Amino acid sequence: MSSVFTSQDISGLASRPLLKWAGGKTQLLSEILPKIPPQYGRFIEPFFGGGAVFFAVRPENGIIADSNPELVNLYRSVAADVNGVIAQLRRYENTEDVFYAVRSLDRTKLSNIEAAARTIFLNRTCFNGLYRVNKSGQFNVPFGRYKNPKIINEDALGAASILLSKTTIICGDYKTVLKENAQAGDFIFLDPPYLPVSEYADFKRYTKEQFYEEDHIELAAEVKRLHELGCYVILTNSNHPLVHELYREFAVEVVPTKRYISCNGKGRTGEDVIVTVPPRPCFNLRLVPAPLSPQAMRYPSTRYMGSKNKLLTELWAVASQFNFDTAIDLFSGSGVVGLR
Ligand SMILES: C[S@@+](CC[C@H](N)C(=O)[O-])C[C@H]1O[C@@H](n2cnc3c(N)ncnc32)[C@H](O)[C@@H]1O
Repeated sequence: MSSVFTSQDISGLASRPLLKWAGGKTQLLSEILPKIPPQYGRFIEPFFGGGAVFFAVRPENGIIADSNPELVNLYRSVAADVNGVIAQLRRYENTEDVFYAVRSLDRTKLSNIEAAARTIFLNRTCFNGLYRVNKSGQFNVPFGRYKNPKIINEDALGAASILLSKTTIICGDYKTVLKENAQAGDFIFLDPPYLPVSEYADFKRYTKEQFYEEDHIELAAEVKRLHELGCYVILTNSNHPLVHELYREFAVEVVPTKRYISCNGKGRTGEDVIVTVPPRPCFNLRLVPAPLSPQAMRYPSTRYMGSKNKLLTELWAVASQFNFDTAIDLFSGSGVVGLR
């Protein structure tokens, strides 16, 4: 395949994550995707990481964000100049010498395109595809010694470029991103660094900053705000008692998952939870309800005990705000409500 993409070459390609990412949601997609509402405003994913859900959903008007500037630079660069990133990647070889030479480069002194290619190269060739930085923000995962890693996946890069170029990409803390962007009707996928449940859990070292227990409590308060605001939210986390406590008013489902541990790379099964939060139902009682239909007006006034004849206008003021095809009147008595 040619290394220079035109938008025609790539318009039919399926997108998928560009990075191997600890805690990536590819293996949970079959659980998460059916829970996404069929219709919503914008798609917002503020703990983006490898973006498995975003690349599967392929939203037309997405907002993605992460607090890790290296990741954000990668996605912005692939959106702006995917051919430049590929050309730069072609200069790197999968050898120990090249790996450590590229790793030692200070990404803040590179061009955006060079820094993006460095991120992909290190991710594809380092040990277990881990992302870990030291206190000063320097990537410090060792060489992975893989025989033939796929460093350049032209199809994935091309498809990602199309998708990312119609997406708003923000570098920042999730709270600011949500406060400034979330609106009623939006769908928000939240995949924060997990609460650790075992000695192996090491999902927190994505940036120099950590995500502590207080942060999870604050995140739950933000989820409640989004619920009140009228957003759809899906959140994933580890199967930790605090997660059940924080989200007890919502649907919390435990699902099996495979965790990859850094010491031997073998799969270990564990459990994640998926929290599904619908928008808070919101009824704006109309001051002047919709008029009753002529059919209801023709119905003879009833003297049936408990008949809701006199309440028809008020009942219709509420019922007329639902979208429905069929109405069932279970304790119908005189049937005056059902007839309406
Ligand atoms: C579990 S990963 C997301 C994985 C992603 N869903 C996937 O499929 O690859 C969590 C991400 O949240 C980011 N992050 C951590 N703290 C954050 C914060 N306060 N605001 C925004 N992003 C944050 C990390 O940089 C990391 O990329």
